[in-house]
Amino acid sequence: MDNIKILIDEKKLHKRIEEIAIQISEEYKGKEIVLICILKGSVFFTVDLAKRINSNVKLEFIRVSSYNEGTESSGKIKMILDLKDSIEGKNVIIVEDIIDTGRTLSYLIEYLKTKNPKSVKLCALLDKPERRVQDVKVDYVGFQIPDKFVVGYGLDVDEKYRNFPYIGYIDV
Ligand code: IMP
Ligand code: MG
Repeated sequence: MDNIKILIDEKKLHKRIEEIAIQISEEYKGKEIVLICILKGSVFFTVDLAKRINSNVKLEFIRVSSYNEGTESSGKIKMILDLKDSIEGKNVIIVEDIIDTGRTLSYLIEYLKTKNPKSVKLCALLDKPERRVQDVKVDYVGFQIPDKFVVGYGLDVDEKYRNFPYIGYIDV
């Protein structure tokens, strides 16, 4: 078992998610929102966020895989599970667990724009700005974190630790 230390505990996570939900609720003021959950890592965040938004929220799911080169995504992205329903004319918010190099999200934003939504915003629970390779404009960020490999609350290492209720890092 890896030695995992807590970086952001459950209480802090939920407090910040509540704040983001209030901000989104105020900005969209009762307009319908389509939250696009990027599987699998964003499941926990999407659910906790959606429950706290005071608007009509629809959920969509996308799963992509990046062809990894070591621990870094290569930018070549493959769609594993695509949208089923149209997002044309909808207010879309992409919900992502973490922005690392920014490659996955740059690709996804461009892809989703081709589906003619009314608006596309981006909400990420975690942001590792030091690692950015591709510039991405993030509208809502939970926490900026240092360049550590984090797990828990949806995030994994080889599919492990997603179910941890907090964000931890592997202490090496
Ligand atoms: P990007 O394309 O480099 O921004 O990669 C983003 C994806 O890499 C995220 O959706 C995560 O699945 C994964 N990822 C990046 N950093 C971490 C980490 O610290 N822990 C777990 N997964 C990560
Ligand atoms: Mg992952």
